[in-house]
Amino acid sequence: MKSPTQFLFQQKHILLKLLIFIFCICSINRNNICCNQHFATPSSFSPSLKQLKLEGYLSFEELNYAAKDFGNRCHFFPLAILYPKSVLDISSTIKHVFEIGAITDLTVAARGHGHSLEGQAQAYQGLVINMESLQEPAMKFNIEELSYVDVSAGELWINILHESLKLGLAPKSWTDYLHLTVGGTLSNAGISGQAFKHGPQINNVYQLEVVTGKGEVITCSEEQNADLFHGVLGGLGQFGIITRARIALETAPKQVKWIRVLYSDFATFSNDQEDLISSQDTFDYIEGFVIINNPGLLNNWRSTFHPKDPLLASNFSSAGRVLFCLEVAKYFNPEDTDSTDKNIDILLSKLNYIQSTVFLSEVSYVEFLDRVHVSEMKLQEKGLWDVPHPWLNLLIPKSRILEFAQEVFGKILTDTSNGPILIYPVNKSKWRKGTSMVTPDEDFFYLIAFLSSATPSSTGKDGLEHIVDQNKRILSFCEKRRNGMKQYLPNHKTQEEWKHHFGPQWELFARRKSMYDPLAILAPGQRIFRRAAACEQQ
Ligand SMILES: Cc1cc2nc3c(=O)[nH]c(=O)nc-3n(C[C@H](O)[C@H](O)[C@H](O)COP(=O)(O)OP(=O)(O)OC[C@H]3O[C@@H](n4cnc5c(N)ncnc54)[C@H](O)[C@@H]3O)c2cc1C
Ligand SMILES: *[C@@H]1O[C@H](CO)[C@@H](O)[C@H](O)[C@H]1NC(C)=O
Ligand SMILES: *[C@@H]1O[C@H](CO)[C@@H](O)[C@H](O)[C@H]1NC(C)=O
Repeated sequence: MKSPTQFLFQQKHILLKLLIFIFCICSINRNNICCNQHFATPSSFSPSLKQLKLEGYLSFEELNYAAKDFGNRCHFFPLAILYPKSVLDISSTIKHVFEIGAITDLTVAARGHGHSLEGQAQAYQGLVINMESLQEPAMKFNIEELSYVDVSAGELWINILHESLKLGLAPKSWTDYLHLTVGGTLSNAGISGQAFKHGPQINNVYQLEVVTGKGEVITCSEEQNADLFHGVLGGLGQFGIITRARIALETAPKQVKWIRVLYSDFATFSNDQEDLISSQDTFDYIEGFVIINNPGLLNNWRSTFHPKDPLLASNFSSAGRVLFCLEVAKYFNPEDTDSTDKNIDILLSKLNYIQSTVFLSEVSYVEFLDRVHVSEMKLQEKGLWDVPHPWLNLLIPKSRILEFAQEVFGKILTDTSNGPILIYPVNKSKWRKGTSMVTPDEDFFYLIAFLSSATPSSTGKDGLEHIVDQNKRILSFCEKRRNGMKQYLPNHKTQEEWKHHFGPQWELFARRKSMYDPLAILAPGQRIFRRAAACEQQ
């Protein structure tokens, strides 16, 4: 016989499942997929989890924030959130989950700053580890011949920048936006306008401390446990939780000359970009973006941007046409202003942009690196930051970029009012070999980032459905042409798709998984490996 409370509990349980189910069905319709995780039996292991001895704590309440991310399209509620104080908290929790493995299908996801796009840092009915609460040990700088800083992997890049600048130092390679965690970007790559010179962020790390899917704490580097080191870099969180990272530093500049010039022809634009990233004497940062039928984007440029020739530039509008904007920056210190200006004039004189369209700005190094945060605050104010973000990030081989540009910028997209489209080349020939990051076969390829925001109330061309549909058309164009495209911040639904994504790297990736996380406990939100459920093992 069931007691009345047991009965009620069971009813509640069923009701809850039903609600989650309905919620998911709705999300499927609304958001076009994203809700294909299976339904695990939750919470029967809560008691044993509650007995874990931790310096931090586990919370079974206020789970909302762990079911959210920047993409704002996936919402999987976890069973609990771990707020770790120490590496030991993380390792003993995972060890516990690993040891009770046979009777549960509990998964564990590290959550950095939750700026994933499709639930990658979520764990349906599993444990989410709030990496930002791992504050210890404190940042520690080494300023001998090799400068570096040891940081907690839950640290935000913006904090590392501020701390290292106190010593006149800074990391070498960045992302465009700095309110992201070290663990989160190292699990992908960390690519920005410095990658052509220094490689992505995964190139600029000397050592990691990692907690594997068995709960072991392992220090790894090129010299020590190199297989795990390579696996974890760009490893989408599959082999372990990064708890500490040793990041390369360089002397920081004080100021930045930040320059934008316009092109109306893609081939001219991309030739200039390619020349710039291949030259010895060049800028310190090289990116670019596309403007399609969008006068707003030109007018909205930060007020600190001064056209060199205001008369000519004010006549410029992208209405009715496609423009390409090269964005470059030169770092300098105030005492070198004159020589920097001369150097910039020489570099610009070799380029073939539309002569009247030089936009110049001078900002501090922090202002430059933290530039996206300025836009974030503006959008926050208008309530436009927490909207769905159906982003698409592609890597396209150089040999296929013209064809891609013609089709996508010329035919598929009719405007760029949904958000910026970044495009810039890199040459990976000097990048660290053997990491998990997947790139096209050619050394020289382009990163193209379609950074769309879907306005919530909108159903037309700013609506989610329209943008998702455009993304699909772009993907299917790449597929049809077999242009060697790889996704960055990849999102795939089935293991077949993942195998295709990894190509010849799949075997190594899967072997590392079986070695470091044999029960597939970690980062279930990537949907690469599925945690075997207890009932399925029988
Ligand atoms: C506004 C904006 C701008 C961006 N610009 C760039 C850019 O210029 N270049 C670029 O390369 N990327 C860029 N990104 C993408 C960004 O690098 C990734 O989304 C990154 O994963 C976000 O970091 P996070 O700390 O929020 O990670 P989360 O979203 O919290 O986690 C991402 C994945 O990594 C796993 N993970 C998190 N922490 C750890 C850890 N410590 N150990 C192991 N696994 C972990 C999670 O489980 C999840 O699978 C941008 C994103 C946004 C929102
Ligand atoms: C700007 O446009 C106006 C009107 O179209 C034209 O008369 C003028 O010559 C243009 N100015 C420059 C500097 O090209
Ligand atoms: C990429 O870099 C390598 C090594 O520096 C160089 O040999 C190669 O020519 C570069 N590729 C292109 C297309 O510039």
